[in-house]
Amino acid sequence: MAELSGAVILVTGGAMGLGEAIARRATSAGASVALLDRNLTAAVRVARDLPGARAYQADVTAVEEMERVCAQIVADFGKLDGAVNNAGIGGEPGAVLECTPKNWGHVIEVNLTGVFNSVRAELPHLLATGGGSIVNVASMAGVLSDYNHPAYTASKHGVGRARLWHQRHSLQCPVPQLRQDADDSGGHQRSQSLGRYRPNAPHRPAGYC
Ligand SMILES: NC(=O)c1ccc[n+]([C@@H]2O[C@H](COP(=O)([O-])OP(=O)(O)OC[C@H]3O[C@@H](n4cnc5c(N)ncnc54)[C@H](O)[C@@H]3O)[C@@H](O)[C@H]2O)c1
Repeated sequence: MAELSGAVILVTGGAMGLGEAIARRATSAGASVALLDRNLTAAVRVARDLPGARAYQADVTAVEEMERVCAQIVADFGKLDGAVNNAGIGGEPGAVLECTPKNWGHVIEVNLTGVFNSVRAELPHLLATGGGSIVNVASMAGVLSDYNHPAYTASKHGVGRARLWHQRHSLQCPVPQLRQDADDSGGHQRSQSLGRYRPNAPHRPAGYC
């Protein structure tokens, strides 16, 4: 049996790039995937190619839109077992004096607040089905500092390093294809699956790209 057989997985930013790759990997592992993206045309194109997948249009910065679409996903699939919060942008390159307040605000809104909005919209549905996994995609810039992308660096530090996400409900995973589950002794085991949520499991970065 495939490792994600029967699971319903939401991937934000699933219309291209890493999100599309994650969706393809989850599908090949037996999951049904909900592709959420602001670019519906591209999401539909990917969904057509993935058995059981559906595309949804939403902007992760829009709170009510995220809540409505997550509820629609659960109505369509019957449940939600996991989510990969992957949607993100790089923003304009340039050191701090070249980084405009507008660019700063937009990058933080999408990359950091967008993850917060996504977690808040997804978590009640995961808990309603007895638990699940949420993977928030950060970056190497969430660990090191990229002085040419200060907003991106700040946003990814927020996602990848800060303990913003309640340890009972969230794991961090800067490398999408890998995640670490905390085992009962507090150590780690590397896994390619989206396993079940474990109460009181500490969240820690799995790896970096
Ligand atoms: N590509 C890399 O080398 C790399 C490295 C480290 C981390 N990451 C992270 O991985 C994630 C995906 O990166 P990628 O390179 O595949 O990006 P990408 O630009 O190829 O794809 C991003 C997707 O997210 C969607 N998106 C962007 N803003 C959105 C919003 N507000 N609401 C909904 N959807 C939105 C886009 O439409 C697009 O489909 C990002 O969070 C990025 O920071 C990427």
